[in-house]
Amino acid sequence: MDPAPVPAPIERPHEDEIDIAVHCSDVMKAYGAGNTRVLALRGVDLNVRTGEMLMLVGPSGCGKTTLISVIAGILDQDAGECLVFGEDFRRMRTRDKTHWRGRNIGFVFQSFNLLPTLTAVENVAVPLLIQHQPRAMAMARASALLERVGLKERLRSLPSQLSGGQQQRVAIARALVHGPRLIVCDEPTSALDHETGSSVMGLLREIARGENRALVIVTHDARIFPYADRLAQMDDGRIKSISAGQGAAPPQGTHP
Ligand SMILES: Nc1ncnc2c1ncn2[C@@H]1O[C@H](COP(=O)(O)OP(=O)(O)O)[C@@H](O)[C@H]1O
Ligand SMILES: [Mg+2]
Repeated sequence: MDPAPVPAPIERPHEDEIDIAVHCSDVMKAYGAGNTRVLALRGVDLNVRTGEMLMLVGPSGCGKTTLISVIAGILDQDAGECLVFGEDFRRMRTRDKTHWRGRNIGFVFQSFNLLPTLTAVENVAVPLLIQHQPRAMAMARASALLERVGLKERLRSLPSQLSGGQQQRVAIARALVHGPRLIVCDEPTSALDHETGSSVMGLLREIARGENRALVIVTHDARIFPYADRLAQMDDGRIKSISAGQGAAPPQGTHP
């Protein structure tokens, strides 16, 4: 008699893969064509784990903004694979992609990109309102978050009435208000003084520790490096090295 057939192994993600929030493999991206073609990403390999704050550092022009734009689904890569919580945006229909991104990703743009005719609290509420959340709830959550970033007194101000640092904190609150699983920030402390920057990083640090979330932060600001779990060094369109950071919680007993 033949031996009983061996059952096929159950396909399960490898243990390591379960904890991967972002997986980039050999990602390439060029801008322009012909003589003006610029190869911005030349084969990026990078994994971001859930629960971690990964900082992306490197010289101006090395491809940091391009990489996080691909990760956040703002730009399509030309080649290579980029998965966010296992999802490949290139396989989604545009409407599904917009919807998925709106629920799962928060992005802080280097230039803030606030809507000029909306007040601070309205700007922050936008990600909830476009998900058709009740307006009163959206405004309450937006107000609470603005209070968290020290802008309780400026809820009704228009962006033009706010300083750069205040606008940056509005942009950060807007990226967090809908509880996204992936938060991507381009130089989030560039306009903040040390104390405000530390306070904002403490908030981001706390969120990154949340279950099944991850943060990717592009920064030049060495003062915030201690908050990173890992630092990825980028140069000329590639990740050159990754080192362990301190993953510091805000210092105890001092202003966070
Ligand atoms: N929209 C664009 N059109 C053409 N070239 C671009 C564009 N955006 C970025 N680049 C070029 O791509 C390279 C990487 O840019 P970027 O990702 O903005 O770098 P970083 O954020 O590290 O400063 C640079 O050489 C830059 O000039
Ligand atoms: Mg940039």
